[in-house]
Amino acid sequence: MLAPQADQVRTLEKWEKNWQEDKIGFHQPHVNKVLENNIHKVLAGRTGVSFFFPLCGKAVDMKWLADMGHSVVGVEISEKAIKQFFEENNLTYSEEPVPAIPGMKVYKSSEKNISLYKCDLFNFSSSIRGQFGAIWDRGSLVAINPRDREKYSSLLTSLMAKDCRYLVATLLYNPELYKGPPFLVPDEQIHSLFGNSCDIELLQSEDAMTDRQRDWGLDYFTEHVHLITLKSS
Ligand SMILES: C[S@@+](CC[C@H](N)C(=O)[O-])C[C@H]1O[C@@H](n2cnc3c(N)ncnc32)[C@H](O)[C@@H]1O
Repeated sequence: MLAPQADQVRTLEKWEKNWQEDKIGFHQPHVNKVLENNIHKVLAGRTGVSFFFPLCGKAVDMKWLADMGHSVVGVEISEKAIKQFFEENNLTYSEEPVPAIPGMKVYKSSEKNISLYKCDLFNFSSSIRGQFGAIWDRGSLVAINPRDREKYSSLLTSLMAKDCRYLVATLLYNPELYKGPPFLVPDEQIHSLFGNSCDIELLQSEDAMTDRQRDWGLDYFTEHVHLITLKSS
């Protein structure tokens, strides 16, 4: 099932080119419904939670969470995406290098607790901002190259604080019909990537087919939402 996409590679240069050409069909101008509907399960009664957004793009969910008093750290390779996030949300920001990592920069909102790191996700680690109380993963696990998934799950697990609640949206479709991204991530792979150290709960399974996926040639497109938490030792 994974074989047709196993060797697919989307380079960082290609992602940047897409941003430069405004080919960002993945971006949603509204708060993501999955996050909105499951926020109580992510927060579990907590306030002032530190959220991590891997591959954040310019997701408006970051502003929504910050407006509720949570803090947000995002990682994104495209400077254009980061600057557009602040500009489109009417937030002023500062820009500074991260001395420990050559080439890495952090953009910080002056008004809200939002810091966006411009770098390859795989150069980010808990030594930069510690561990997080929540992770919202939409368009991230499904966007990284399939061959990098083990590296990704190790990194994400290392960024989880003990009480971290990690919400991840995955996509199911016939990989013979579309090469991705987004890539197919079956439930079995969520279990093989995270099952050793984490408990995994399937929260929702919904038809997510729109004209965009019909144009890709797909005949079904299903979104699964999992809640991942560290096993208590
Ligand atoms: C499918 S988009 C999803 C963005 C966002 N999560 C959303 O839901 O709108 C993936 C984003 O990750 C960025 N990206 C891809 N690979 C990356 C990497 N290795 N490190 C940092 N950013 C990356 C791309 O520039 C793009 O903005």
